[in-house]
Amino acid sequence: MNKITIAIDGFSSTGKSTVAKQLAKHLGYVYVDSGAMYRAVTFYAMQNGLISKDDFNVEALIFQLEKITISFKFNESLGFAEVYLNGENIEKQIRTLEVSSFVSKVAAISEVRQKLVEQQQKMGLDKGVVMDGRDIGTVVFKDAELKLFMLASAEKRAIRRFDELIERGDKVLYEDVLHNVVERDHIDSTREDSPLVKADDAIEIDNTDMTLEEQFDKILKLAKMTIEGL
Ligand code: DC
Repeated sequence: MNKITIAIDGFSSTGKSTVAKQLAKHLGYVYVDSGAMYRAVTFYAMQNGLISKDDFNVEALIFQLEKITISFKFNESLGFAEVYLNGENIEKQIRTLEVSSFVSKVAAISEVRQKLVEQQQKMGLDKGVVMDGRDIGTVVFKDAELKLFMLASAEKRAIRRFDELIERGDKVLYEDVLHNVVERDHIDSTREDSPLVKADDAIEIDNTDMTLEEQFDKILKLAKMTIEGL
């Protein structure tokens, strides 16, 4: 059967990765979480004292980019690939609210984007890929056969992210999570390089009032129609 490329973009915490993982599993495709790569660079910057609440040494991060190797390794029991920074599994460490609070600043740097986009495009060479992020349909895979753009109200997204963090055992306040969601949307959509915008040929999915099952059914139908239409 023909394999396609599926690009899923949208605002933070719209459930992109959940549906992308389900879809990849169902179709036997590779799932790539491009946000995890920006989070990995952010984690590196934090570990090396390059970014803090009051300071961001952009020059030093750009200079050290060649020291950063990001890879993915499939975890059988989880059913998806975990992200590694210079050989170390950092899947859990990159999901904290602290990393979330810095990542949009790191993702706005063109040199960072250039490095990661190059790697993402290589991962998609053989098609059969579901990749989620902010610029997948507009920059990384402009020719993707199926492009989705996910939306949901900020409050609904903050509740979902808050529940996730609490379940992991993180001590966070709902107000801080909501603030982070709104702030990231703003930085991601207004940055100069590859801002978050809906590709002209992307299909909008507003899941504010959709269950996970309804959303998956709808998206799987779209994927099957696209594959059959080739
Ligand atoms: O999908 P996520 O929330 O894990 O992404 C983290 C941040 O990375 C997000 O706020 C913006 C940035 N990002 C990006 O600029 N481009 C992508 N393709 C993916 C993520």
